[in-house]
Amino acid sequence: MVKDKEKSGVHENGESPIGSEGLYPDPELLLHKDPIDLAILKKLVGKSIISVDQFDREMVLEICKFAALLEATEIASSHPLDGKLIITAFFEASTRTRLSFESAVLRLDGKIISIPTGKSTGVAKGESLADIGEMFNAYGDLVVIRHTETNSVEEISRNLRLPLINAGNGSGQHPTQALADWFAILKWKPKLKATEVDAKDKIHLGILGTPGSMRAVNSFLRMSLIFKDGIHSISIISEMADPLGPELQKMLEESEIEFKVTNDINTVLSDLDVIYMNSIAFLGDSYKTLDSRFKLDSNSNLKKDAVVLHPLARLDELDPALDGTDHNLYFTQAHGAVFIRQALMISILDRFDRLPEKEIPLKK
Ligand code: CP
Repeated sequence: MVKDKEKSGVHENGESPIGSEGLYPDPELLLHKDPIDLAILKKLVGKSIISVDQFDREMVLEICKFAALLEATEIASSHPLDGKLIITAFFEASTRTRLSFESAVLRLDGKIISIPTGKSTGVAKGESLADIGEMFNAYGDLVVIRHTETNSVEEISRNLRLPLINAGNGSGQHPTQALADWFAILKWKPKLKATEVDAKDKIHLGILGTPGSMRAVNSFLRMSLIFKDGIHSISIISEMADPLGPELQKMLEESEIEFKVTNDINTVLSDLDVIYMNSIAFLGDSYKTLDSRFKLDSNSNLKKDAVVLHPLARLDELDPALDGTDHNLYFTQAHGAVFIRQALMISILDRFDRLPEKEIPLKK
């Protein structure tokens, strides 16, 4: 059943169903003549989501199509997570990730127990993450963890026998954010799904920041390489001399995508089709904010059809003056994260049989 477009679904004129400003591409465009391949999604059953590197192109596409189905239709109203209990363990501050996971679970009729801050756990008394992982085994069916330390996922996994979703580990990765990022891009330009993309449809991707020390940017760049067939070039705009680090540098070189690193935003901004930015880089125990030279506002020399993505929270690098423009894909990006997280949890917990089969366009 397609959502009631007046009450909760996609507005005919491309406006957000929740009244947010900016672009709101129709999720049905992602499903058009492209049924869902359940056999691929079933590979996620019982699995943990740790890093973008565990995904391939066909898996990302099926997750995004499943998310589009959840966004465009009422299939989620069949209580697919009924009886499942999700632990959201956030040892680092979060607005979007924790609340979008919890919103996703509750809208699927699952239950939540939540750690909103590490201070409310035995960590405050010196308890190890490995011991906390052992305890979690008895408390729930799936763990979502956010932590300031890059090795936190490895440590908690030592004794954890439940599937785990990495919701951001220090300067490491943020794989479900990258899925939400590419979900927004693919809804905006479904042609980028293909392995053969016309030269005129290929994008020049700009990344404002330091992928080597910004986990969302790091994961976004890795996932962008999965969709390299739709990218004609990548420009990294950063004040750092080496914003990539050796691993990402090697991955970019091996991708054979044309790429360059510059600290002068003005040399590339007007040519970019997609601009990905973030405000915060992790430097050991501290944060560094994006240089003020890289601020985007209504005076920025953006291409007419360019879209901006930002995982948020923003500081003053992204002026709210852009919110009401068609450059704003960042609110759609944040909104779509709920459906990506729903698609992942239904898949990991193998609750496909709770969905109304007749309403899912399945690949034969
Ligand atoms: N995008 C993101 O990770 O936001 P939060 O830090 O608010 O979770």
